[in-house]
Amino acid sequence: EKGGWDSFMDKEIHEDPSAVQRTLLGRLDEQGELNLDEVRIDEHDIKAIDKIVVIACGTAAYAGMVAKYAIEHWVRIPVEVELAHEFRYRDPILTPRTLVVAISQSGETMDTLMALRHAREQGSRVLAICNTQGASIPRESDAVLYTHAGPEVAVASTKAFVAQITAAYVLGLFLAQVKGAMFKDEIHQMLQSLQSMPQKIQWILDTQTQTVQRAAAQMVDAKSFLFLGRHVGYPVAMEGALKLKEIAYTFTEGFAAGELKHGPIALVDEGEPVVFIVPPERGRNILHAKVISGIEEVKARGASIIAVAEEGDKDVERYADIVFWRPQCHTLLSPLVDVVPLQLFAMYMAQSKGYDVDKPRNLAKSVTVE
Ligand code: F6R
Repeated sequence: EKGGWDSFMDKEIHEDPSAVQRTLLGRLDEQGELNLDEVRIDEHDIKAIDKIVVIACGTAAYAGMVAKYAIEHWVRIPVEVELAHEFRYRDPILTPRTLVVAISQSGETMDTLMALRHAREQGSRVLAICNTQGASIPRESDAVLYTHAGPEVAVASTKAFVAQITAAYVLGLFLAQVKGAMFKDEIHQMLQSLQSMPQKIQWILDTQTQTVQRAAAQMVDAKSFLFLGRHVGYPVAMEGALKLKEIAYTFTEGFAAGELKHGPIALVDEGEPVVFIVPPERGRNILHAKVISGIEEVKARGASIIAVAEEGDKDVERYADIVFWRPQCHTLLSPLVDVVPLQLFAMYMAQSKGYDVDKPRNLAKSVTVE
């Protein structure tokens, strides 16, 4: 069943490109317009939506955090992302105009299911983004947008994450289309950029894998890691850190790069490995300069820098010890490529340590208890 791969995780990371591609398939009509029949919410009600609340856990919640940046930018309505287990017990503000989006690979996560029920009891509509046909979460939702990543067997979620981001982006662009929040051309262009992502992910797999594998071999004895990013790179850093914790059992903290000086920089010492997600530099991106200054700060304290950065980034070349390159892409779409070397990195770290990458200790593929 592994089809020649060493592990399901290896196989599933290599299915990242097709997971994105298949999730986009059939959602555009001949005119290149989004056609989401599955979203059985009538136009009038969609126009009335004034807030989105994403409920999810773990990796799915990080996909939701990525989507927040894009959907707020495109649709101009607030998007809150809530860990499902926190959501239900804090009396959240929900109205019939709130769209609750439950993201779940398995569709059976009890925390998410209970939060969904709570939201529906409060009169909100729930749309599920799910990878498993007919699971409890899509069954109990008002509408479903399936991700078509195919079955995910390895406990650590990989291809489901890129598929969840893709589905949430499609939903965001659809809302923008119905609400008239973006020009048709802009939506069209963004969809075209989305369609070019599988190829860019494939480029990472084809050209960066060896670098990642070597980096893991080199870092195998590291006691801890810090993962830092800003904007969409922040949830990507959190996700990269989670992967490393869960399968390589390495103490890892992911956080927003802007927080460094507010405390975490005290952790940085000689040789501490710090992974930075560096946004593209094009268009004088202010965030790029900010992240580079973060790199300078930790470099000055002797940290060993791993960067995920756009090809040809001279600042990164100057400071980073190891670079996982990404091809040029829109900043909002960069998480789809940036997470890939981090998935590979966690896998190779776990392998180098001799762990079973598909079945990490203490974890189950789907968490069906609250
Ligand atoms: C991490 C991981 C978990 C799941 C979380 C939610 O690699 O797999 O964090 O993402 O348990 O699971 P689903 O998406 O099935 O609701």
